[in-house]
Amino acid sequence: MADNITSPLWQSVPDGIVPEEEVTRTENRWLAVVLAMLAVMVAIIVVTGITHGLHPPSNVETIDPTTLHLGGEFAESNLGTAAEPDGSVTVRMIGEQYSFVPQCAQVPVDTPVKFRITSTDVIHGFLLPATNVNTMVVPGFVAEVRTTFSRPGIYQMPCNEFCGYGHHGMWGAVKVVPREQFPRLGPIERTSCAKQ
Ligand code: CUA
Repeated sequence: MADNITSPLWQSVPDGIVPEEEVTRTENRWLAVVLAMLAVMVAIIVVTGITHGLHPPSNVETIDPTTLHLGGEFAESNLGTAAEPDGSVTVRMIGEQYSFVPQCAQVPVDTPVKFRITSTDVIHGFLLPATNVNTMVVPGFVAEVRTTFSRPGIYQMPCNEFCGYGHHGMWGAVKVVPREQFPRLGPIERTSCAKQ
C-alpha cells in the first residue's frame, strides 16, 4: 500500500482528475475486454454454425408456379402428408391467397418431418410457433424445412408474411399425433384434421 502512495500516479493530482497514464491503462483494459467479447461471439457463431449445420433457410429449388396444378409434385392429389420408406414423412403444401392447401396435415410425433411448400401467387410465410419451422414461401421456389415434433397436439400455422387484404385470415395447422396412431390414418385422413 505504501508503494501506491509514493507512486507518481498518486502525486500532485487535483481532486477528481485522473492521471493520463491511469486513463490509458483503463482504456486499454476495456479495449482488450471488447476484443475478447468479439472473439468469443464470432467463435460461437462459427462453432455452432459448423456443429449444428446451421444455414439460412434457403432451399434454392425453382418451380413454375403457373403449372403447379397440372401435375408433378404439387398436383392436388399429391398434397398433404406422405410416408417415406425410411419412416420419415414429407408434407407438401401450397400457400395461396388466402389459405394453405391442405388446411391441415397430420404427422406422427418423434419422427423426422420434411415440409415442402410453394406458392401459386405472392409471398407467404410459413411459421409453426415453438418449433424451428419458419420460412418464406416464395412463388417460383420450393421452400423446404425439416423438423421433429416432440409433443403431440395441434400446431397453428399463421401466414406471417403480409400477402394482401386477407392475410390476417390465412391460417393452417399441423396436427401431431401419437406414433402408433399415424399408420392407421388413410391418405385422406392424414391430409385433413376434420373429425372422422
Ligand atoms: Cu399469406 Cu399472409
